[in-house]
Amino acid sequence: MRIVSIVGARPEFIQVAPLCWALQGSEHEHVVVHTGQHYDRLMSDVFFADLRLPAPGVMLGVGSGSHGVQTGRILAELDPVLAELAPDWVVVFGDTNSTIAGALSAVKMHLPVAHIEAGLRSFNRVMPEEINRIMTDHAADVLFAPTEGAVRQLASEGLAERTHLVGDIKTEVTYAVRDLVAGRRLQLPEGVSPDEPFLVATLHRAENTDDPQRLAGLVEGLARAPHPVALLVHPRLRDRCAALGIDLHQGALRPGEPLDYPSMVAAVIGSVGVVTDSGGLQKEAFLLQRQCTTVRTETEWVETVDLGWNVLCPDPADLPKLLERAVPEPSTAHPYGTGDTAQQIVDVLSRLSPSAPHPGS
Ligand code: UD1
Repeated sequence: MRIVSIVGARPEFIQVAPLCWALQGSEHEHVVVHTGQHYDRLMSDVFFADLRLPAPGVMLGVGSGSHGVQTGRILAELDPVLAELAPDWVVVFGDTNSTIAGALSAVKMHLPVAHIEAGLRSFNRVMPEEINRIMTDHAADVLFAPTEGAVRQLASEGLAERTHLVGDIKTEVTYAVRDLVAGRRLQLPEGVSPDEPFLVATLHRAENTDDPQRLAGLVEGLARAPHPVALLVHPRLRDRCAALGIDLHQGALRPGEPLDYPSMVAAVIGSVGVVTDSGGLQKEAFLLQRQCTTVRTETEWVETVDLGWNVLCPDPADLPKLLERAVPEPSTAHPYGTGDTAQQIVDVLSRLSPSAPHPGS
């Protein structure tokens, strides 16, 4: 069976890793197509190197643009690539513009599509990611749900027959990298000492960065944190702050470049907690047992909140007080599986593959 995985943005390079590891040396062929949505070295290349991923088999160069332009470019460039590769399965991950474009291109070419991380919802239709998730789930033939909540959501949308509960594919990477970085020297922005309590923060969502007042409020709230904040600055945040004249060198803030994945995991382990609007980081903080404060009105990863490890902070003025809260009791729950998701996915795809040998033949 030939599987084509479509990736383009930072979280997808992490999500595809366990699938690459599970398929390396198997009888199946795996081609990774990189759309080029993220193109900076620190947003893309370092992930391929650190996670031992083969170089992408196909590299598109779509780059940045408005949602329509970026999605449209990916669609236009993918059609001939998929036509030539003629895969048994096209696999897409998560909720980015590369995800929706990959699913749409494939389904219109009558190629079977599998969506990993299906069924997550924020119920906030202002988020571009929410529209991408809903459309991708309804276009795909097979839905790999990470949680029981996601399974229920897909059933409520009439998609139960296509759904398989397999756990979260990132659990495997987070655990593997946690073990790899144990004892490693931390790579932190200037002014953050690994020997003193510090927080790790990221901000990049359009809902937070595109409204000047909200962005200024978030930066001020973070600047009043009780510990130094290692703020790992996404290009969107850097550009918006520069355009709006918002100073990232204020109060507790210690801005630095985005980190590669192992350094990020090591930084979270070394920290006293995380402040973020990222989906993946909320869950990683939970898996690494560090408390998370999420600067959004809702989360797709509700289990992290239910288990007491994540608190939503819609109003940035509440941040300093919230960051003083007590650390929760260690959790033994495994809402995101135990780290065998990729193999389960390969098994389901082999079983359902149109080119799979007929049972008993
Ligand atoms: C995208 C995903 C989001 C994911 C995030 C991880 C969508 C709709 N959003 O958001 O779900 O959590 O990636 O980072 O797909 N830029 C660079 N260099 C890069 C990449 C981006 O400078 O390598 C700049 C560009 O100016 C671009 C902006 O960052 O316009 C935003 O990038 P974009 O891919 O549009 O969305 P993200 O905010 O990264």
